[in-house]
Amino acid sequence: MKSRASAPGKVILFGEHFVVYGVKAVLCAINKRVYVTAEKTDQKKIVIKSDIGELTLEPDKTVSEIKSPLRPFYYLADKMIKNQDTGIKVIIESDIPPGVGLGSSSACCIAGASAISRLFKDTSREEVLKLGVEAEKTIFEDTSGADCAVCTYGGIIEYEKDKFQKIKTQPDFHLVIANSEIKRTTESVVAKVRRHKERDEGKFSALCDKESRLVSDALRLINENRVQELGEKVAENQEYLRDINVSNDILEEMIKIGQSTSFGAKITGAGGGGCIFALADESNLGNTIKQFRDKNYDCFSVKIDFKGLDTF
Ligand code: MEV
Repeated sequence: MKSRASAPGKVILFGEHFVVYGVKAVLCAINKRVYVTAEKTDQKKIVIKSDIGELTLEPDKTVSEIKSPLRPFYYLADKMIKNQDTGIKVIIESDIPPGVGLGSSSACCIAGASAISRLFKDTSREEVLKLGVEAEKTIFEDTSGADCAVCTYGGIIEYEKDKFQKIKTQPDFHLVIANSEIKRTTESVVAKVRRHKERDEGKFSALCDKESRLVSDALRLINENRVQELGEKVAENQEYLRDINVSNDILEEMIKIGQSTSFGAKITGAGGGGCIFALADESNLGNTIKQFRDKNYDCFSVKIDFKGLDTF
């Protein structure tokens, strides 16, 4: 018996990093997905195969001692086969570039949680989200959980410390994603922001207040589908990300290119490298992509995925 699930990647429209400290963030799922197929096997082993590598291990290992980036899948498979006389094979296929702020790891954890758990029982979206966050914590303990929530439910969500709700309107915008190809881990950038915060708590708290006000304005503009003004908020959010030191010269250069043609551009996800996005509609989409490609940046456009987790 096989079980298959897929989950979308994500872009953080507003509020990354600040969300770790309780500020509301706004995220949207994107139309690029991870697909996970799981099946029971006779041999009592956990076998995981993906484009980024393979892992074959006996069950019952200490998860923190497993050095592979496939650790979350091992965690999920091992948890599910406790007291069961079976092994598991997991195959991962992905359209989402890994490690660049587009939610590849959260989409893997959610699609993995769904595909693996459904070999044993019917799981609701709530249960999958809980399992997916547990799995993500094996690679990044301090995750806010925001990325997994949007990968599960799709669309646009507002997220605040374990509470979230899906936004009902379906605004019609495009996001042009450009990749700096600078590798970093979310964990290391979040740790850097924590050190920055501890150096001047007062300043950081004032920035959190500004970000909160910006997020409420942005939510109103999203609900009214006012894309151009939303772009101004995107650019303002980038200033706050610069203030907490998660930008750098290359990212700023890319943001300048995005700003020159789109409604606004900013980092998405942890920053320090990874991707930026530029907010566009039909009127400036083509030109925004062209500007990045002319300067040899890896770039593509995405739209909002309204489906979230899918099982088949
Ligand atoms: C990473 O995609 C988003 C961060 O805010 C971390 C998190 O929310 O867990 C940087």
